Amino acid sequence: MSLHIEAEKGAIAETILLPGDPLRAKWISEHYLKDAVCFNTVRNMFGYTGTYNGKRISVMGTGMGIPSISIYATELITDFGVQNLIRVGSAGSYQEDVKIRDTVIAMAASSSGINKTRFNGADYAPTASFELFQKAVTTANAKHIAIKAGNVFSSDEFYADDFESYKKWADFGVLCVEMEAAGLYTVAAKHNVNALAILTISDSLVTGERTTAKERETTFKEMIEIALGLA
Ligand code: ADE
Repeated sequence: MSLHIEAEKGAIAETILLPGDPLRAKWISEHYLKDAVCFNTVRNMFGYTGTYNGKRISVMGTGMGIPSISIYATELITDFGVQNLIRVGSAGSYQEDVKIRDTVIAMAASSSGINKTRFNGADYAPTASFELFQKAVTTANAKHIAIKAGNVFSSDEFYADDFESYKKWADFGVLCVEMEAAGLYTVAAKHNVNALAILTISDSLVTGERTTAKERETTFKEMIEIALGLA
């Protein structure tokens, strides 16, 4: 048991899928995992361990934003020995050619400033695990799922005061905005474990389009299938 996770030692697999929404974690366990057992209900941040294709795997919610995912990722690594942390979430597109329902893998994740505090004003570039990235690309290709990969922005604001500010990131090739990958990659690097963020585009800042709840469910499945292939 850690401060925010009530699991027994050994109750969490070496590889874990991390959606922001704890109910999405429940949904993934119910639809994909065999013999799933719930290991956490603290703050309703549900976590489950089961098997997928015979391999042990866990899934747990992280909440929204870098502070929340950083707390859970740190405890999963330091208290439960998790080695592979895979965020599965949604993102808003910054580019015309990154369309609604596309799957994006974050090779790197920029952020608003938490790492400037950590590194005394200097920039740190949080990056994905090469091993997990390579495996995800191989799985996506085998399943004929198209992916895009590149830099993403892990924002601290969902409702930005200056909407137009996204264009600066877009000009520098950033593909999309979400709110957690930079925190996850930084914590994983600190503890020498592997992390990857796989994202589905749910809305576009370029066109103003949004997916419906039904569409999000269908497209989410492609991202989950890539992530489960990493077990
Ligand atoms: N996740 C999905 N869409 C987003 C957006 N527009 N901004 C931040 N995070 C998001």
